[in-house]
Amino acid sequence: MDVDTLLTTTRSVRRKLDLRRPVEPEVLTECLRIAQQAPIAGAFAESFRWLVIDDPDTKSALAQIVRTDGESSFARYGDRVPPRALASGRHLLSVLEQVPVYVTACLHGRPSGDNALLSAFYGSVYPAVWSLQLALRSRGLGSTIVGYHLAEHESDVAHILGIPDDVTQVAMLAVAYTTTNTFRPGARPAIDRITYRNRWGSPA
Ligand SMILES: Cc1cc2nc3c(=O)[nH]c(=O)nc-3n(C[C@H](O)[C@H](O)[C@H](O)COP(=O)(O)O)c2cc1C
Repeated sequence: MDVDTLLTTTRSVRRKLDLRRPVEPEVLTECLRIAQQAPIAGAFAESFRWLVIDDPDTKSALAQIVRTDGESSFARYGDRVPPRALASGRHLLSVLEQVPVYVTACLHGRPSGDNALLSAFYGSVYPAVWSLQLALRSRGLGSTIVGYHLAEHESDVAHILGIPDDVTQVAMLAVAYTTTNTFRPGARPAIDRITYRNRWGSPA
């Protein structure tokens, strides 16, 4: 797959996850090794941790929390989400225990301070998360970020996983092989509508 196709067709996969096919640990490790090459703010270079969760009982305990929080989130914010994405999000929650692997990206520390600090903190995790999603896709796997539990139950999840209090869970991914390889570019606003030149609001 050429790079542009990979970059434009890596979707959040929820309905097309192969729930029966195990994910080989070595394939996941290879993807994590690739994702580790993503940029990270220097101050956080040693702070990043991945947590891979494939134990069925642990997944089940997490899924219960995420599902409950997901339903609350849909009730609160569902009207802002396109109906198809909402239905697809609900579907993923309904099968979450069956997804073979979850991967949580964590950073030591609790983000606080000005926008530069917050930007560096969260911005040190998402490049690696996206690289992981790309590396997975190039090997026939798919993923979706699930973050509902971070609103109110991050500490309950931390307790189940033994994550220390001073570690922030930034994103959890549900990971599986996909049942198809034909993904298309997603709907996005036209680039000239969201790009300005030299001055806010000036056409590019
Ligand atoms: C920071 C972040 C948080 C997200 N949280 C969730 C989530 O909790 N549940 C979910 O189903 N998708 C989540 N997503 C995936 C988006 O909903 C998804 O990217 C969006 O639906 C666009 O779909 P696409 O990636 O297939 O183009 C998240 C994405 C990002 C970047």
